[in-house]
Amino acid sequence: MGKIRILSDNLVSKIAAGEIVERPASVVKELIENSIDAGSKKIDIELESGGKRLIRVSDDGEGMTRDDSLMSIERHATSKIKELKDLFSVSSLGFRGEALPSIASVSRFRLVTRTRDQVIGTIIAVEGGVVRGVEETGAPPGTTVEVRNLFYNTPARHKFMRKTETELSNVLDIVERESLSRPGIGFELRSEDRTLLRLPGRETVSERISELYPGIGLHGVSAEGMGVRVSGLMAGPLDTRSTTQKLYTYVNGRSVRDRFLTRVLIDSYGRMVEKGKFPQGVLFIEIPSGDVDVNVHPTKNEVRFGNARLVGDLIRESITGMLEKAPWLGGQGRSSGHAPGGYVPARESGADYGGRGPDGVETGRGANGFRVYNNEADTPSAHAPAIDGEPNLRPGVESPVNGLFGESGFYSGLKILGQLGDLYIICASPEGMILVDQHAAHERINYERLKKAYTGNGTIQTQDLLVPEVVELSPHESDVLSGHSAQLQSMGLHIEGFGENVYIIRRVPALLKNTDLKRLVRDIVSEMKESGAEKSLTDKIDMVISTMACHSSIRANYELGPEKMKALLSELDLAEFPHSCPHGRPVAREISYADIEKMFKRT
Ligand SMILES: Nc1ncnc2c1ncn2[C@@H]1O[C@H](COP(=O)(O)OP(=O)(O)O)[C@@H](O)[C@H]1O
Ligand SMILES: [Mg+2]
Repeated sequence: MGKIRILSDNLVSKIAAGEIVERPASVVKELIENSIDAGSKKIDIELESGGKRLIRVSDDGEGMTRDDSLMSIERHATSKIKELKDLFSVSSLGFRGEALPSIASVSRFRLVTRTRDQVIGTIIAVEGGVVRGVEETGAPPGTTVEVRNLFYNTPARHKFMRKTETELSNVLDIVERESLSRPGIGFELRSEDRTLLRLPGRETVSERISELYPGIGLHGVSAEGMGVRVSGLMAGPLDTRSTTQKLYTYVNGRSVRDRFLTRVLIDSYGRMVEKGKFPQGVLFIEIPSGDVDVNVHPTKNEVRFGNARLVGDLIRESITGMLEKAPWLGGQGRSSGHAPGGYVPARESGADYGGRGPDGVETGRGANGFRVYNNEADTPSAHAPAIDGEPNLRPGVESPVNGLFGESGFYSGLKILGQLGDLYIICASPEGMILVDQHAAHERINYERLKKAYTGNGTIQTQDLLVPEVVELSPHESDVLSGHSAQLQSMGLHIEGFGENVYIIRRVPALLKNTDLKRLVRDIVSEMKESGAEKSLTDKIDMVISTMACHSSIRANYELGPEKMKALLSELDLAEFPHSCPHGRPVAREISYADIEKMFKRT
């Protein structure tokens, strides 16, 4: 008797039902998942016309006997679960027994398969759900499924397929997504005889991840509690993208596109990430199978957590831990063991970072030669040389006091060399040169001051205007503003109605006293208008504070004397997240000795 059985009607009724074959990418997803479940080591995907004309997925997995292969195209036939209780502990990717029959009913379908211990394989041809032939055939062990002319017999769905490029990029996304959590499996994607992706089997998740994020510095994140583990490799807040496409989440090894998870991840970066930009990276959640329901949606993209709050808290904790510790200055992560004048090529230093971090995600050098950091003790800055007997301090890392006073802070510990173009402060650091964007730095400082005052962790100094300012707004702007005057007041901005659509500003935060208040109010109102109703109140407040901070900050083209530069850097050390302005632009960038050596071809 074969391994595949038809599920009972009762069990079928408990499985999330619905259409799973929407486009070529969904076919590819189902076929790849079957190959993974079959224990394959190598999976090849071939496409014509973005999968619209042909999708062929071949694997070297366990294959099927003739009987099983005939069963596999029956509805609700699966080898992966047998009874209801299995549904609560599925470890395979599939369990619904629906993919092959669904695909075969809307295409010209061919399945070639052979198990390792049989000498002869089976070939089955199906057209629009009707079996056209079953024959014996010679075939290598494993399974190949060929899907031609998808939706040829369902014109309505055929119409919904997109341009070849769009379908192709959807498929590419699926292959990357599926491959990320299975580094041991080799994947190859070819389209019209061109290889688009070739991922050899790897030892570790981080090797696979770094291949799919070329040139991006990734940092280990982790958190654990009550049997739930969150771990992964995430890019810093300066390496963002304009979509969430490269933000991958997995629950117990299953790739999910869950709105809750994505939202929590984005929110965890908060204002470190520029508006309209999204973080990127890979996050794995390991959770006891009884605490998560994967049977929520037929595509299995969404899950439901028994304790979503816990999962959310752990994600936030893991990301915050990374944001606080990771070395933002270098953008791509910094080199270590590199003393000024030492001319140690950065490539050769710190080669001992490899190994398994406490979060189980291996750290070490990525395939492209850039290093992948774990945020624990492996933070490279922990290895950086101390200078002049001073403790070795890096932004936010192991500096107990980010103090205002001298050496204890990172920025105030830098040697100021001068100002460049009335825009940047140039400093010498132990590892090279640092440019500080003075406007971004000041914006960050003022933002945090205003924010502290607003949240009650500080006091905001306000000042009555000698001559109150009058602002005239459009009726719509006026509506927007009138709903928020109480909040603005709690931020130190006192605005009152003064006749129809006219407002009067009487009192402002002292920080803002020399700014163009009319413009400030207009900016705040237009931001509020734009952000609309879907923004939470905290987001809106944050946005107002950022706008105020921007208005109150020194302009870019402003000459700073040595004392002013020093004061600015000292204050920067007091900031919680000194490394980017509230809009996500970097405050400082480093040009390392290694970079400089490269410029002078000394390496
Ligand atoms: N590539 C493959 N290699 C080996 N067996 C496969 C393969 N694809 C499908 N099968 C078998 O066919 C069955 C039906 O597949 P499918 O319709 O995708 O349902 P499910 O994956 O939910 O079980 C699977 O349970 C499995 O036993
Ligand atoms: Mg399946």
